This record gives sequence, structure tokens and C-alpha cells, in this order.
Amino acid sequence: MQHTQQSRAAAAAARALAGSRSLAMLTGAGISAESGVPTFRDAQTGLWARFDPLQLATPTAFAIHPKLVWDWYAWRRELVAKVQPNPAHDALVEIERRVPDCLLITQNVDDLHRRAGSRKLVELHGNIGRVKCSREGTVVEDWDLVGDEVPHCASCGALLRPDVVWFEEMLPPDALAAAEAMARRCDLMLVVGTSAEVYPAAALPPIAKASGAIVIEINPNATALSPTADYALRGPAGRVLPALVQEAWPDTPFAAIPRMA
Ligand code: APR
Repeated sequence: MQHTQQSRAAAAAARALAGSRSLAMLTGAGISAESGVPTFRDAQTGLWARFDPLQLATPTAFAIHPKLVWDWYAWRRELVAKVQPNPAHDALVEIERRVPDCLLITQNVDDLHRRAGSRKLVELHGNIGRVKCSREGTVVEDWDLVGDEVPHCASCGALLRPDVVWFEEMLPPDALAAAEAMARRCDLMLVVGTSAEVYPAAALPPIAKASGAIVIEINPNATALSPTADYALRGPAGRVLPALVQEAWPDTPFAAIPRMA
């Protein structure tokens, strides 16, 4: 799509956004890319380049190599603690202010939406900052690292694990129910930074579309969702999303618009 088509699409998308009265936002790893958090399907960087995340984020991997999986998540936790939300996260906080009836549904586990200030938030795949007992499922706030061992649950002795949803695992039922309900009743869904490949999250935009919502996609690349999106805005979320918010609400306080890095 050439530049003029893109700018026409962006203008129409901004008008639709400004007119929304019930708004769903669905985000994936791409919205955190400009914060420096590798996406899932980009090649792993550095130490973990030789591991395939899709092989590590599974109950089987944890059962066979608990230490490897624990260390991978500890590495990701440290990485995420060092980065900051980017203007795309800030733009979604501004949208939450502008559209009271909204819900941010994220597949990300990096906590950057909450750190940016989003509060109407559902974490479909958990949160890397939380750790839980692998047997009881109870979340533990802190844990003792004994040497190089994976820590154990103080009450039952089972291994602790990250409070995230691994492949082959069910999503938190309340989170998924809230996300599906919003997808059914929203008049607009903003889909940012997801390859739209992993279900059940990937089913949310089609549910919204089938319920009559307008679907806006923001992604530098085409995805499985692109052909059915009403507006497919090509570009990095850190630039496209703040510009969309500024166009939708020109009085947006400048602070909410990109601190261009
Ligand atoms: N701005 C917007 N989108 C971007 C950017 C950016 N700056 N950079 C990359 N992207 C897009 C990519 O084009 C891709 O479509 O972000 C998407 C990232 O896709 P994935 O790596 O597949 O991440 P995601 O869609 O969140 O994966 C879904 O799968 O691996 C599991 O549980 C994991 O939550 C994850 C789920």
C-alpha cells in the first residue's frame, strides 16, 4: 500500500477510533519490540540464540530441564526489568483515558502495559514477574534462591515456576472470558504487534469482526489477520500508534505522544 493510501487509511482509522464507544485493544510482542524486548518469533538474541523459545515455553521442557527453563525466564525477567515502556504503551494509556468503556487484552508477559499506566488490562498469558508453585498454582511473592537450584514451594516443596501460560496449557479462564466478552461487544478492536498465529488470542479479532466491530491492525508486516482488517496500518507501533491517537484527539497532551527516541 503506497504512502497516500496509508495516510488515507490512517486518517479513516483515526476517525473510527475517535468515534469508538466500546473499544478492545489486543497486543502482542511487537508492541514491546521498540522497548528492546525480543519478539517471540524473531531470532533469540545473545545467550539464548541457540534455543527455540517455542521449545522452552512448555510444561514438558520444564519437567525435563527445570533449571534451563527457570534460567531462561530469569534472564527474560532481568531483561524486562531494565527496559521501559515505549510511546506505543503510552498511547494505549491515553486511549484508556479517552474511551472509558475499553479493555486492553495482552498476550505479553512483560508487565510493560501496567508499568506504562494501563489499568483496564487482561493478561491472557500471565506475567513473567510472578512466580507460582508448580503443584498448587499459588503465586508466591518472593522465593529463596538456594545456590544454583530452582527454588521450591515453601508449603509443599514442589518446584516453583513462572506464572505464565506455556504451550499446551489452558489460559486463565477469567481472563479469556473477559477478553471474549469484550471482543463480542466492542465497536472497534485495535490489534497491535501480533502475528495473530497463536490461539485462542488469535480468535479474538475474527470474533470482533463477526460481531460488527471495525478492526484496525498496526504491524510493520502483513499477518494472517491483515486481509480481514478494515485498516492495516504498516509501521512500528511506537510511531504509528501515537500518531493515530494524536490524529483522533488533536488536544492530546503532548506528553502522551512519543518521546521520539
Ligand atoms: N511494532 C509493531 N509490531 C511489530 C514491531 C513493532 N515495532 N516489531 C515486530 N512487530 C510484529 C511482527 O511483525 C509480528 O507480527 O510483532 C509480531 C510479533 O509476533 P510474535 O513474535 O509471534 O509475537 P506474538 O504475536 O505476541 O506471539 C503470540 O505466541 O509465542 C507465543 O505466548 C507467546 O504471547 C506469545 C504468543
